[in-house]
Amino acid sequence: MKKLLYIDSCIRGELSRTRRIATPIIEKLSERYEVETIVINDLDLVPVQIEENRRRANGIVSDEALCWANKIKNADRIVIAAPFWDMSIPAALKTFFELCSLFGVTFDSDDKTCFGLCKAENLLFITTRGMAIKTGDPLEQATPYIKALSWLWGIKGFEVVARDNFDYIPAEEIEKQIESAINEGIEIAEKF
Ligand SMILES: Cc1cc2nc3c(=O)[nH]c(=O)nc-3n(C[C@H](O)[C@H](O)[C@H](O)COP(=O)(O)O)c2cc1C
Repeated sequence: MKKLLYIDSCIRGELSRTRRIATPIIEKLSERYEVETIVINDLDLVPVQIEENRRRANGIVSDEALCWANKIKNADRIVIAAPFWDMSIPAALKTFFELCSLFGVTFDSDDKTCFGLCKAENLLFITTRGMAIKTGDPLEQATPYIKALSWLWGIKGFEVVARDNFDYIPAEEIEKQIESAINEGIEIAEKF
């Protein structure tokens, strides 16, 4: 069975509407993929600062970061679920990426530029936003970032399931939106 890496960055845990959308989509994908989950809340993440940068410059990378990087590199598919925070992704997820987006593992370079080393053909990003900001709006800086990172890793396929205005619409409307997002994600999962 092919491998799918699910990166759950739904920081509000059980309260997360993004996770409510992602869970049944992952269940559907688990019919065709062996799913491994990384829950960002479970990791003890420290932002990359000068000492970590120095270690890396000397070729020293923690076993943990190397392990995450190899999971990303070797997955056949990747799913990321994260809410829209401060017009982008939660900082904990960005820290995770900075720790495990590793030169020589997830990407490499020649004498001109960088290129990806990851095996995955497709990445699915699942998100919900508080304000009425659609995917593609210049104010929406999460999807372009995740897409750009996929490019760095060499992943060509990119799908997004997003719902917005969750902080301003009535609870019943949120429920309808969650249901339609799940259906959209399950349709994507069938061909993913
Ligand atoms: C720390 C924090 C930052 C947020 N920043 C934004 C933002 O910049 N723009 C926005 O539209 N919504 C923002 N929101 C609202 C969330 O995107 C929205 O409530 C989303 O549905 C939360 O997803 P969740 O239920 O999966 O946690 C923020 C929420 C939190 C807790």
